[in-house]
Amino acid sequence: MNLGLFFSMIVAHIVGAEFQNTKNEATHFTAFAGSESCRDCHRADYDLWAQSNHALAERPLQVATDRTAFNPPRDFKHGDETTTARIQNGQFQIVTLGLESNRQPYRIERVFGHDPLIQFLTPFPGGRYQVQEASYDPKSNQWFYVYGDDLRNPGEYGHWTGRGMNWNSQCAECHNTRLKKNYDAGTDSYHTTMAEMGVGCEACHGPLKAHVEWRNAHTNTTLLDPTVFKLSPARIVGLCGSCHSRNTDLTENFKPGDSFYDHYALETLDGDKRWYPDGQIKDEDYEFEAFLGSKMYQDGVICLDCHNPHSYKNTLQGNDLCMRCHIGGYPKAPKIDPVSHTHECKSDCIGCHMPVTVYMQRHPRRDHGFTIPDPLLTKELNVPNACNRCHAGKTTDWSLKYADEWYGTNMNRSTRERARWIAAAESGEAEANEKMIGLLADTNQSPYWRAVAATFLEQWAVEPATQTALLAQLKSEHPLVREKAVRSLEPALSDTNVASALQGMLSDPLRNVRVAAAWVLRATVDMQGQAGQDLQRMLDLEADQPTGQFEEAMLLLSRQQPAEALVHLKKATAWDKLSPPFLCTQAQVQDQLGQLAGALKTLDQAEAAVPDDPHIPYVRAMILARNGRNEEAKAAVNRALKLQPGFQPALGLLNNLHPKSP
Ligand code: HEC
Ligand code: HEC
Ligand code: HEC
Ligand code: HEC
Ligand code: HEC
Ligand code: HEC
Ligand code: HEC
Ligand code: HEC
Repeated sequence: MNLGLFFSMIVAHIVGAEFQNTKNEATHFTAFAGSESCRDCHRADYDLWAQSNHALAERPLQVATDRTAFNPPRDFKHGDETTTARIQNGQFQIVTLGLESNRQPYRIERVFGHDPLIQFLTPFPGGRYQVQEASYDPKSNQWFYVYGDDLRNPGEYGHWTGRGMNWNSQCAECHNTRLKKNYDAGTDSYHTTMAEMGVGCEACHGPLKAHVEWRNAHTNTTLLDPTVFKLSPARIVGLCGSCHSRNTDLTENFKPGDSFYDHYALETLDGDKRWYPDGQIKDEDYEFEAFLGSKMYQDGVICLDCHNPHSYKNTLQGNDLCMRCHIGGYPKAPKIDPVSHTHECKSDCIGCHMPVTVYMQRHPRRDHGFTIPDPLLTKELNVPNACNRCHAGKTTDWSLKYADEWYGTNMNRSTRERARWIAAAESGEAEANEKMIGLLADTNQSPYWRAVAATFLEQWAVEPATQTALLAQLKSEHPLVREKAVRSLEPALSDTNVASALQGMLSDPLRNVRVAAAWVLRATVDMQGQAGQDLQRMLDLEADQPTGQFEEAMLLLSRQQPAEALVHLKKATAWDKLSPPFLCTQAQVQDQLGQLAGALKTLDQAEAAVPDDPHIPYVRAMILARNGRNEEAKAAVNRALKLQPGFQPALGLLNNLHPKSP
């Protein structure tokens, strides 16, 4: 395999990893008035909001409120470690393993999250805050380890002292109002600022100082203030999505009312299996993507149909929430008779249609895909069904029997068929190609599912029919479909038609599409042009993260600048010491630059860190073979094959090292 192919393999592995971002910009908060200023005129809204999780998403430590968690002092164990929460000389502390080799007290300064669990922020050098792994459940008054069985060690990226748990880049933007990360790459430090701590009024209504001033200047009037605006339903969902989704920031300037896609690249169901093939959430996916994939959203239902815009509690309780529309009369909503529809089962509507997954050890979250519980999909594809999540003692066949008896042919839905073909596309089955082409073009399907189809078509992008189908979607009315089609055309870039069509996408009206096109065309794109600048801005925003450094390196490598790329790779591997793709790429670039000894040392580091990854000895073998050290190369390739018998690239290399006699 050549270097280029290996790189694209790594990119495929990396794309969609969690990106968080930064950008140095002056801070202009003068247009914000702060939530307190709204209170006297909007008392009812204010009071609902003040008690909400939004208002309390981040706050300073408050002695009276937070005392219970720390006093009397409390120990708890995770793995071999013991952590203590205590108050010492008036200071709130967590005593735990951090940067030093023994336990140290770390001061707590801020409180993060509200219900059903709370995390704590400790100040670190360079303007940083780190999120403690010791977390607190206020209802049970218990401390617990937020990663459960996933024990993390000091020095690891995901340890509480690592960049993965850095508040400035990984957490702050969604828990605050108008955040500016202000990362300084030169000093690797932050001057993070925000208009207001927590999710305040202006996080959703935009800066409203002008409104406060206008209202104060026009006290006795029936005139409407021209400075406030009402959000359209579509823009409301995008506003919620800016925090309730998994995405990559393209800018840090999203304002309520803006298009979501001009500021974020959305993660969707793809080969990384963070959602199940029927759209249910699996990883910590929040709500937005599942909801975009639901039939209800497709017919115009929005978050505020069920959530009060200020308390964020449900607008009605129990089945009434659903029956408001499903009693009949609401356009297109199927009429449901709650008694006959649920047969002998005593579940409420959300029990079957919004199943629960627990995140962060303590937070049961409801699936917003509004899927149909389907035990048959469990049997066929291992997709969980709501019946057995609840009737945990029963078998899948037990649920299947009742589902068949009760619902009969109604279970044979197009969504079931779609889930089957998505699963087939996930495992690369050739017949799924045609089905994905069909799904991509089917305008009865929502843009979300068409974008998912586009994503899975990447694996067949060199086939003419697939290419034609993807090219047609460059004109899709929906930016998500256009973006995913652009990304999936990358393997077909050598085709001149494809290349020129993608060139045209560099001037798409929406940034998510432009950035995708600039990335695909990164070897040649004009970095001073609009799309090139958009791409660079995204990369600059994530320059404080190893993934950001790695992507920057990939860009430079595509542009034949390996020496510059190596600088970024070294940062990536210093910040995340356990990532085989980062380390292997660094070794390859070192070798390319004639630094063989350095390359082998990098691979030593990689093998010591991740001894069971076959890619590492395989890359060593490639590098040794390239340098004519065939015997050592054979030994390395055999190690790779021992770790993963049948590992295809290694077998290919082994054949080359044993040239068949003519
Ligand atoms: C001096 C009183 C006053 C202050 C201060 C004030 N508002 Fe208003 N606001 C009003 C009045 C009066 C209206 C028009 C009547 C209405 O729609 O409620 C209004 C309208 C609005 C609307 C538009 C409602 C609609 O349906 O069109 C929003 C949103 C709003 N205010 C939010 C805020 C926020 C957020 C703040 C604080 C940053 C704030 N207001 C501060 C008096 C005030
Ligand atoms: C600036 C980011 C941000 C925006 C915008 C935002 N949210 Fe949230 N939302 C959060 C965070 C953070 C939490 C969790 C806070 C906590 O528990 O401490 C949350 C919590 C919630 C909850 C749980 C509340 C509860 O009491 O359990 C609901 C429901 C919710 N948001 C709905 C919405 C909807 C609907 C919108 C759009 C109108 C929206 N949010 C916009 C960040 C945001
Ligand atoms: C993409 C936006 C986003 C980012 C980034 C983010 N959160 Fe949240 N967080 C939310 C939302 C939204 C909720 C509300 C729960 C939900 O949506 O299901 C939440 C809820 C929470 C809660 C309250 C408990 C709960 O489950 O509701 C805690 C604690 C929390 N987040 C901690 C963190 C920490 C620590 C980080 C950084 C490592 C972080 N969050 C990063 C959006 C975000
Ligand atoms: C998480 C998002 C969010 C937060 C935080 C938020 N709002 Fe709203 N608010 C909305 C949405 C969405 C609507 C309905 C759509 C619209 O009118 O644009 C709304 C509607 C309103 C309205 C008009 C309708 C009404 O209920 O009177 C006012 C006034 C208002 N909000 C004021 C405030 C104030 C004051 C605060 C802070 C105390 C606040 N909002 C916090 C999302 C939010
Ligand atoms: C504001 C109106 C409204 C509310 C409230 C509402 N629905 Fe719906 N629902 C709809 C509409 C409209 C459709 C039809 C979508 C379609 O078939 O195109 C629908 C469809 C569905 C479907 C069928 C999905 C499928 O894949 O065929 C389910 C399941 C569902 N709703 C469950 C619920 C549940 C559970 C609740 C309460 C938590 C609820 N709905 C609340 C309007 C609503
Ligand atoms: C025991 C599990 C279960 C419960 C509880 C349940 N449903 Fe369903 N629901 C299903 C299944 C299975 C289907 C698919 C078969 C069907 O359409 O009859 C379905 C289908 C639906 C549909 C789509 C109907 C159509 O014609 O396409 C809607 C809407 C719906 N449910 C709403 C509700 C509402 C509202 C409630 C609460 C009153 C509820 N469900 C409670 C299992 C359940
Ligand atoms: C058809 C009704 C419905 C719609 C539409 C809806 N939700 Fe929910 N949501 C619920 C219900 C029911 C719960 C569970 C409430 C509970 O457990 O008390 C919930 C819970 C939540 C929670 C708490 C954490 C969790 O996942 O359980 C968040 C956050 C949330 N919703 C955000 C959103 C956002 C954002 C949207 C729009 C993108 C949205 N919801 C649309 C009904 C809805
Ligand atoms: C949210 C939880 C929940 C979900 C989801 C759920 N059930 Fe139930 N179910 C119950 C409860 C509670 C009862 C009544 C208590 C009992 O008998 O277990 C019940 C009773 C039953 C019964 C009759 C009692 C028995 O054990 O024979 C059957 C059959 C049944 N459910 C089947 C299903 C099927 C099939 C599904 C999925 C389509 C389903 N349930 C989904 C909670 C749930």
